[in-house]
Amino acid sequence: MNIPQQLPQALLPWYDQVRRDLPWRQDRDPYHIWISEIMLQQTRVEAVKGYYARFLEALPTIEALAQAEEEQLHKLWEGLGYYSRVRNLKKAAVMIMERYGGVFPREYEKILALPGIGGYTAGAIASIAFDQKRAAVDGNVLRVVTRLWEDPTPIEDTAFKKQVCQALEAVYPPEAGKFTQALMELGATICGPDRGPRCGECPCYALCAAGRHGTAGAFPVRAPKRPRRQEDRTVFIVSCDGRFALEKRPKTGLLAGLWQFPNAEGKLEVPQALAWAEAQGLRPKEIFRQTERDHIFTHIHWKMRGIYLEVTATGGGFTWLTARQIQDQAALPTAFRQFWEEIGNV
Ligand code: ADE
Repeated sequence: MNIPQQLPQALLPWYDQVRRDLPWRQDRDPYHIWISEIMLQQTRVEAVKGYYARFLEALPTIEALAQAEEEQLHKLWEGLGYYSRVRNLKKAAVMIMERYGGVFPREYEKILALPGIGGYTAGAIASIAFDQKRAAVDGNVLRVVTRLWEDPTPIEDTAFKKQVCQALEAVYPPEAGKFTQALMELGATICGPDRGPRCGECPCYALCAAGRHGTAGAFPVRAPKRPRRQEDRTVFIVSCDGRFALEKRPKTGLLAGLWQFPNAEGKLEVPQALAWAEAQGLRPKEIFRQTERDHIFTHIHWKMRGIYLEVTATGGGFTWLTARQIQDQAALPTAFRQFWEEIGNV
């Protein structure tokens, strides 16, 4: 499959006209591009803006990132999910300090060898920061390309992704960074997922099979999703005189090393919940609220019952934090934080 040679000519002038003024487009510092691309892999542009600004304010250089404590990193990442990504950022920063004297490497192979950096991120950094003819194929770009070709291959197919990368790299112009971003921009806006394609406004209409045939809405094709495993849990929001019981999650597995409210398997009824509290060495005063919440991870769907419990004394081997400490210090992932926000503490 070939990408039309005219694609850059069609896209670049359009991108100059419509490009959104995003914080990570203000310079081409590879550190900035790297942080933004890792955040953008998992979160919408609007939500990334705040995280991006806070992250760079706290850790303005690769050196600062290399020296950051895990607690601080988790806090800066709180709510973004996929916390191993921020731990990999630090590992890569340490490697850049040790191997490259703190200077972000330019060679593609070296970029790709950094922890947490795969083909997409390496391509984005090499092209956007260094104008190398490397493609960065994400969901946005796959959407554009499958429509150009009317290609029904499911986009989860990794061999297909490689093929798309090669086909794009064959037409990359010298303004490589701009071309990468123009492709992403098209896939995020006119050729976007939400409102359906607006082919009438597309700079690539004349080059696009799906555009011409009016079939763009049928692409990309996706492989059927594997169902997520469902787990019932009971989450205890235990308070005592303005302090709340928290504990650290185990160092490995889901949400490793982050804070959590104590929780138990299954959806417990009130008598079982009180028995749980007593088994932890707590003395329940009253259950003042119950609520049901869901949280969806990549492979697991937690169906949770939140039980808000006031107890007479701290204890039970938990860490008892004030509202302010939870706000400022403890990285409490969204699965748990949603119960916290519900009581209006934040
Ligand atoms: N999505 C992924 N990378 C992006 C970028 N650099 N700008 C806007 N949206 C993106």
